[in-house]
Amino acid sequence: MPAISRLRVVVATPLPDALVAWLQDALPDVDVVADASLLPPQRWPADFVGDPAFRRTSDQQAAFDAMVDSADALFGIPDGSADALARAVRAGSRLRWVHTMAAGGGAQVRAAHLTDDELRRVTFTTSAGVHARPLAELALLGVLAGAKDLGRLRAQQASRTWPDPRPMRSLPDLVVAVLGLGHIGRATAALLQRVGVRVVGVTRDGRPRGDVTDVVATTELVTIAPRVDALVVTLPGTDATRGLVDAAVLSALRPGATVVSVGRGSVIDEAALVRALESGVVGNAVLDVFAVEPLPAESPLWAMPQVVISPHTAAVTADQERLIAELFVDNARRLLRGEPMRNVVDTVEFY
Ligand SMILES: NC(=O)c1ccc[n+]([C@@H]2O[C@H](COP(=O)([O-])OP(=O)(O)OC[C@H]3O[C@@H](n4cnc5c(N)ncnc54)[C@H](OP(=O)(O)O)[C@@H]3O)[C@@H](O)[C@H]2O)c1
Repeated sequence: MPAISRLRVVVATPLPDALVAWLQDALPDVDVVADASLLPPQRWPADFVGDPAFRRTSDQQAAFDAMVDSADALFGIPDGSADALARAVRAGSRLRWVHTMAAGGGAQVRAAHLTDDELRRVTFTTSAGVHARPLAELALLGVLAGAKDLGRLRAQQASRTWPDPRPMRSLPDLVVAVLGLGHIGRATAALLQRVGVRVVGVTRDGRPRGDVTDVVATTELVTIAPRVDALVVTLPGTDATRGLVDAAVLSALRPGATVVSVGRGSVIDEAALVRALESGVVGNAVLDVFAVEPLPAESPLWAMPQVVISPHTAAVTADQERLIAELFVDNARRLLRGEPMRNVVDTVEFY
């Protein structure tokens, strides 16, 4: 990639003025263009959707589109919309880079149905990595919920039952399979290993990654399941990962095992998970992501004491947008120097 002398970045997603100013200070060779009046106000930190009541007048929409179309690079997908992204790629002849706020930005790019030429012309990067630590912490909560049988404790408490004691398990007794060793999977494995848990990584190729030396291929998931006390699912939602954790995998886990889901809901066959929880094959589940979001009111998962529902909020932290801005700055510097960028979307599998 050749080096570039100057770059025009348009902020296409709601962002605090202070962070826009920080981006400009950090990138002297970049013109950072932002107009808060053309974007919905944020309702909370890292709210990249903004107030849904916000509407642009037709003049404002024309001004917003013109601003987006003047960009070499976009900080965020305009209005978080696949249609707006497709429009921006087609209209913006200078556009060469779009950074998505989501770690799973590949799915947003796929939804824009861009042509191969368009996918070659524009590089898409994601915010993968920014959310790894808080999601690893939710995975730890799930593993502890299994060890301490949180579901049984909650059911007993609801029925004011004081049972005879029975042994609880301790973290070093457990084998935890971490499905996917990307940013979230590696952070999860590292955190679990630090507290004495035995981790088995599960990747496409079964080769060791980072500090995880015990690794098997995804094709071996059913085979290793009988020694797994907890399964932490961190995979992105792609055609290849859809339903990877199915009834066969769930029923092969150690009886009463725990399932944690922090990647994408489509990776787990949710109907099979409900059946496994109802029968006790799966003892506890801690879920941040679901097949359909928001989780429909009629889902049986809501009423299960052995299930902790985290409404896709476990990755939301106060420092999220600053971390995304730092990642963007690093990638902008790489682009200016003509170096490979981080977190480039795979435009075959879209993750
Ligand atoms: N709950 C939340 O709020 C939240 C927040 C952030 C992210 N997410 C979701 O979590 C996903 C993962 O995030 P991340 O930061 O860990 O992403 P990442 O660093 O891009 O890692 C993704 C990992 O998935 C692996 N993978 C992809 N397809 C696979 C397949 N078919 N079989 C086995 N492994 C496969 C990749 O393997 P290779 O190394 O072979 O490419 C890579 O290691 C995101 O895509 C997003 O959908 C959820």
